[in-house]
Formats: sequence, C-alpha cells, structure tokens
Amino acid sequence: MEYDYKSLMNKAKEASKMSYSPFSKFAVGACVLTGSGKLYSGCNIENSSFGMTICAERCAIFKAVSEGEKEILAVAIYSPNEDDCYPCGACRQVMFEFQGDNEIKIITEHKGELDIKLMSDFLPFGFKI
Ligand code: THU
Repeated sequence: MEYDYKSLMNKAKEASKMSYSPFSKFAVGACVLTGSGKLYSGCNIENSSFGMTICAERCAIFKAVSEGEKEILAVAIYSPNEDDCYPCGACRQVMFEFQGDNEIKIITEHKGELDIKLMSDFLPFGFKI
C-alpha cells in the first residue's frame, strides 16, 4: 500500500510554524519518512550571520540521522510563502546521501494538491562515494 503522504505534508506544515526566519521572512517546514517508518520534522533556522542558516530539509534529515536513521524514503516540503517549495541544491545533495535502494520521493504541494516527484527529478547523476 502507498504511504499516506498527506500526513507527511501535514507534519511539514506544522513544522513550518516553528520556522525562525526573521531575515528572509520565508518560513519552510519539512518532514522525512525514514526506512524504519519513523517521521522527523524540521524548519529553517536563520542566523544573524546569514551563512549559518539551515534549511528545513537538512534540519529534518539531521534530526533523523542523529537518532540513528540511515535511510530516507520520502521528504515533504512546505512553505506558506510559496506554492511548490522545491529543495535547494545543498539539500538535494544531503538527501541523496541517505537514499537507499528505494528512490526518495519528494513531496510538495501545488494549489492544495500533493505533487510527488522523485530524487532523480531534482538531482540526476548525483554524487556519492
Ligand atoms: N529554505 C529552506 O528552508 N528550504 C528550501 O527548500 C528553500 C530555502 C530557507 C532558507 C532560508 O531560511 C529561507 O528559506 C530563504 O532562502
């Protein structure tokens, strides 16, 4: 049975409310589904030293990995500021690192509907040692 990605997106929406984004005012939330079936959410966290900012996707992924997860199956991304909030290049590379045998699904919302794409749509020929 296909996973209920709507619930993953709802967790990403919840997480976007925790965004610390006083500089860009661009809130983002993300939620990852891991190989063990657990969900980890994250938000973007900005800093006065702008380069220290972390995106919502990497926040969620690092939370998962720091809890022992090694495989990511799906990532939902949401911003109240933008229809279809796509991951930045750095987050695509970090997602790719934790792709296992199953290609990661990347879920965004477009005009209220879920849009499900694949990792390779965002990062073809990804680099991994
Ligand atoms: N941001 C994310 O958290 N995820 C994305 O996919 C795009 C960008 C954040 C970083 C920064 O805090 C703000 O959005 C504007 O770039």
